[in-house]
Amino acid sequence: EIPALKEVLKDYFRVGVALPSKVFLNPKDIELITKHFNSITAENEMKPESLLAGIENGKLKFRFETADKYVQFVEENGMVIRGHTLVWHSQTPDWFFKDENGNLLSKEAMTERLKEYIYTVVGHFKGKVYAWDVVNEAVDPNQPDGLRRSTWYQIMGPDYIELAFKFAREADPDAKLFYNDYNTFEPRKRDIIYNLVKDLKEKGLIDGIGMQCHISLATDIKQIEEAIKKFSTIPGIEIHITELDMSVYRDSSSNYPEAPRTALIEQAHKMMQLFEIFKKYSNVITNVTFWGLKDDYSWRATRRNDWPLIFDKDHQAKLAYWAIVAPEVLP
Ligand code: G3I
Repeated sequence: EIPALKEVLKDYFRVGVALPSKVFLNPKDIELITKHFNSITAENEMKPESLLAGIENGKLKFRFETADKYVQFVEENGMVIRGHTLVWHSQTPDWFFKDENGNLLSKEAMTERLKEYIYTVVGHFKGKVYAWDVVNEAVDPNQPDGLRRSTWYQIMGPDYIELAFKFAREADPDAKLFYNDYNTFEPRKRDIIYNLVKDLKEKGLIDGIGMQCHISLATDIKQIEEAIKKFSTIPGIEIHITELDMSVYRDSSSNYPEAPRTALIEQAHKMMQLFEIFKKYSNVITNVTFWGLKDDYSWRATRRNDWPLIFDKDHQAKLAYWAIVAPEVLP
């Protein structure tokens, strides 16, 4: 019997995992999930393209069956669920931004649709989803104002961000509201996010920053610590590590047929350093979620071979797991 992650880390933060819905049909997956984790995220099933069923006479149609299975699972197992995600440039149907003639909506009409979407979705999960990624990946450090030129931006300008938080707050005043993004530790991106979140926090519209943490053996851990330190200076802000995984590569072109043991050892050592930092800042970090249960379920393994998680395809704990629970055993 190996130690349960949620027990080992209980004095620090919740430990979460992102799941595809197929795990609910697999007893071995369920056993691993309930043993180690006390928070889950739907990997795709609470995104707009999953929840939106269409539009009829200008009114949005929804389907909640699959998403509701996640809620039922956390209720049966005494866990919590993070909601991912309300407003994103990706995995949102094209028609959502258009009128019946296929033209982009006006700013006013888009604002109404945003409100209808958030009121319905956050309202449906009120009291069930404990934290929402309200806006996902809106920052683009290459733009002069730091904001991604998404369809949201094209139609509404920068205002959509604050409005999304406002509507989510109104729909469930008890849910914790997060801004979520990747590469949050890259200095320019970090500073843009800091300013954005500081402003929303002063208006009482946000509770936390989601640092995704899709990292690799090449990632500078020191930069991650710098970002956590900077974000934690915003009074009252919480940090969730929302999408942790660590590629065994240092570049984008390599592809190993099998995971080299040296890379798995290096991955474990980096995981150890990372968790040392997370524990050091556990006054602000309240949830650390892995983006996937086991290596073969990872989105990263759909692009090339990769082994970015802490359990292998056979549900066995990897060195990266031992790096968290008993770093002294690492080779
Ligand atoms: O469900 C369809 C299936 O019906 C279809 O036959 C099949 C053919 O391509 O595609 C399936 O959809 C895939 C979906 O995952 C569900 O498996 C999509 O192609 C695929 O693009 C989608 O990828 C997801 C990706 O977001 C899309 O942006 C990944 O699973 C998911 O892990 C990933 O998660 C994101 C976070 O939401 C935000 N941060 C980055 C992170 C990693 O990219």
